[in-house]
Amino acid sequence: MHNFLMVPLYGDLPLFPPIASKQAGEINSLYWFISAVSIIMTVLIFACIVLFAWKYQRRRHAHATQIEGSTRLELTWSILPFLVMLIMFAWGAKLYYAAEHPPKDAMEIFVTGKQWMWKIQYPNGIREINALHVPVGHPVKLTMASEDVIHSFSVPAFFVRHDVIPGHYDSLWFMPTKVGRYHLFCTEYCGNGHAAMIGWVYVMSDEDYAKWASGGGAQGSLAEQGQALFQQFGCATCHLLDTQGRCPNLRGLYNKPVQLNDGRTVIADDAYLRESILDPNAKIVAGFEPNVMPNFKGQVSEENVIALIAYIKSLSPTTPASQQGPQQRPLSATPLKGPALASHTR
Ligand code: CUA
Repeated sequence: MHNFLMVPLYGDLPLFPPIASKQAGEINSLYWFISAVSIIMTVLIFACIVLFAWKYQRRRHAHATQIEGSTRLELTWSILPFLVMLIMFAWGAKLYYAAEHPPKDAMEIFVTGKQWMWKIQYPNGIREINALHVPVGHPVKLTMASEDVIHSFSVPAFFVRHDVIPGHYDSLWFMPTKVGRYHLFCTEYCGNGHAAMIGWVYVMSDEDYAKWASGGGAQGSLAEQGQALFQQFGCATCHLLDTQGRCPNLRGLYNKPVQLNDGRTVIADDAYLRESILDPNAKIVAGFEPNVMPNFKGQVSEENVIALIAYIKSLSPTTPASQQGPQQRPLSATPLKGPALASHTR
């Protein structure tokens, strides 16, 4: 339905973006439902004002009669709009909930915002700047970090946007439905180069995507890059993998509950691992001493943290394939299924 509304502003920037993801269609329908209700109500109210002003003008009714009201009429104009609002609320809440809950089998890609570019990292080790390649018809989850200030990742054609705030991970997901090339933007003013912080999302057929991904990363998979960093930063001297060292053993840790020394239990997800790398004393695992591990804040870039987490993930063989860091094979026509692809650590 967007075709007749594609009013070109300049070149590739139409007033109404193309509808190129599953949620784009759903959100668009809600948008037009709310717009239609608003337009109908506005026209109705203004028509009544004009009509009544004309019909009940003083010239025709020299002596006004006081009307005491009509319960039935008042109930009608209260309850009907209330029900229409409830439809908007329920519909909106459903879409909002879906937007916050990526499907379990979503393919994971990592995005780091930096003045002034988007850096993209794929599990197979490919890195890109201001370009995101995804296969059509598969849900994709972006895990996003900022290296400096607040950015906002936005793809109008997918109807997705999310702030990327320094200090933690933000995420969003989408399922592209149309092969093509779509604008991606930073939609939060982030300094002089903000306007240049743009790029393209390339939605490819499964076949083309497999071909594109087949090269893999120049320095191995993301988990392999993480493994190299694990050695380089000296993590391996305390985090031993086969016996218990001075620091917690990381094998099988990912997404598992961790008992802390203050009695709390947390899940070892991406956010926890990131915090524990950059600020190790924020949460001390029960049975371990604080101040053993140095603070890596400012020492490790967000991109390297992502690689390190991918490596830690790869040490958990039970993690579903989609969450696995290393992928020895390129992302194939079915990038989301199949056995765990990690092998170099086992
Ligand atoms: Cu980054 Cu605006």
